[in-house]
Amino acid sequence: MKSQDRIKQLLDFRDKARKGGGEKRIQDQHSKGKLTARERITMLLDEGSFEEYDMFVTHRTEDFGLADKKYLSDGVITGHGTIDGRVVYVFAQDFTVFGGSLSETFAQKICKIMDQAMQVGAPVIGINDSGGARIQEGVRSLAGYAEIFERNILASGVIPQISAIFGPCAGGAVYSPALTDFIVMSRKSSYMFVTGPKVAKTVTGEDISIDDLGGADVHASKSGVAHFTVDAEQEGLDLIRKLLSFVPQNNLEEPPQTNCDDPIDRLEDDLNDIIPESPNQPYDVKDVIICVVDYHEFVEVHEAYAKNIVVGFAKFDGMPVGIVANQPAHLAGVLDIEASRKAARFIRFCDAFNIPIVTFVDVPGFMPGSKQEYGGIIIHGAKLMFAYGEANVPKVTITLRKSYGGAHCVMSSKQLRGDLNYAWPTAEIAVMGPHGAIEILDGKAISEIEDPVERQEFVSKKEEEYKTKFANPYEAAKYGYIDDVIEPRNTRFRIIRALRTLMTKKDPGPMKKHGNIPL
Ligand code: HXC
Repeated sequence: MKSQDRIKQLLDFRDKARKGGGEKRIQDQHSKGKLTARERITMLLDEGSFEEYDMFVTHRTEDFGLADKKYLSDGVITGHGTIDGRVVYVFAQDFTVFGGSLSETFAQKICKIMDQAMQVGAPVIGINDSGGARIQEGVRSLAGYAEIFERNILASGVIPQISAIFGPCAGGAVYSPALTDFIVMSRKSSYMFVTGPKVAKTVTGEDISIDDLGGADVHASKSGVAHFTVDAEQEGLDLIRKLLSFVPQNNLEEPPQTNCDDPIDRLEDDLNDIIPESPNQPYDVKDVIICVVDYHEFVEVHEAYAKNIVVGFAKFDGMPVGIVANQPAHLAGVLDIEASRKAARFIRFCDAFNIPIVTFVDVPGFMPGSKQEYGGIIIHGAKLMFAYGEANVPKVTITLRKSYGGAHCVMSSKQLRGDLNYAWPTAEIAVMGPHGAIEILDGKAISEIEDPVERQEFVSKKEEEYKTKFANPYEAAKYGYIDDVIEPRNTRFRIIRALRTLMTKKDPGPMKKHGNIPL
């Protein structure tokens, strides 16, 4: 064959590969409002940066009439490219080829880029849109999945892993995204479940739709499986680009610093009055966060799940940080099972990738009651404690208002290796709130007062005494549990100075294989 013919052959092969499962199936994909795998990769990466691997791979199955039914690339597009000039590895399942189902060779392609991402020290982004294990390949497909799972596990805490779910993701296939750091689901076209509605109906009799069982909103608000939901795929891909702007390429690097023109000493007078007079009156802690971070920009993670705690990324003077904040505007900011799990996982991500943690505290305690106790609030609360206590990245804590009981200890207290713990003058740091404390300490005396007016006066007097003693930051500051009491409007500057000072912090802790976090 002449060299010109060989080149033409190559171009024909490439052209054929780019057509995936063919024009008809591409049209079907578009008619469902979905993009193709290659379109998704193009939108995700910097223009012209994608280098595709294994375009010529086909499956090796002869049974079920597959011998002459082969598609170049075999249903998954893999390779590397850049996002904001930084290398990332990517795979996108191609639903137009056997419904994006996973074959042995399909899995090998994903494993190849995961292995190289680990060697290079670069993030992996997986775009999922698949009918699961390729049925014709039987156990080879299952083995392929397990090869990917193992790599997800080994890569965890070494390189960032992000999953987009833009189509079906069912059965054991859900576990690869579940092992990654963040899951983004598209509202219109995606679902995730271990067993679908039909199996649910057969086994339990439950009648439920696909969306109600495993749609994006369900996973974002009820199960917490999804960290983000988006209406359009482009929005999801932009979000992934944004997320990566806060994280380093791998666990040996520092998070990416950027220039910041937002004045570091910007005073926010509104913060001096943001805490309501009444301790039971809520306010939105996101107003505090937005006030103090660079350019008022906060990327919230798990926004719809466990709203009583807020987590997300922001920057201070161009330094990426993870923010954790109790949310008085939802369930008074109480710590419950979901909030503990949500924050613990986020803190561990930040710690694994050298991202400092800034914590805003306004917490009345742990949620009481049998539902919480039976659900294991002890174990889940301990997760949050473990995550904070184990994290050795710089930790800056600001107590805004309440910090009561066990929740005080948990929320990045000084004793859990909080590095710089500040409090606003409105802080109340105590074993419990005045009302509960007086009921326990003076319950007998109260019950002996028959006249209701007299009883109320007695209670108010006792509560006032308690507040004077404990409902302020100075009792804690007296013992050095709080490093300084700061003026609220100066919070941004104090956080930035703390973070700058702590940049070179080293606190490795004892050598061990790994701890035994209460899972
Ligand atoms: C082989 C598959 C396939 C699969 C879909 N296709 N899933 N081929 N193995 N798992 C093929 C179809 O035959 C069809 O081929 C094409 O993909 C598109 O599928 P449709 O059914 O026409 O599409 P749609 O109506 O959109 O339905 C999508 C779907 C459905 C809901 C995903 O295809 C489906 O239910 N598939 C099976 C899902 C499943 O049970 N998978 C196994 C899960 S268990 P043609 O040639 O007609 O275009 C599992 C175990 C993993 O994955 C364990 C890991 C540890």
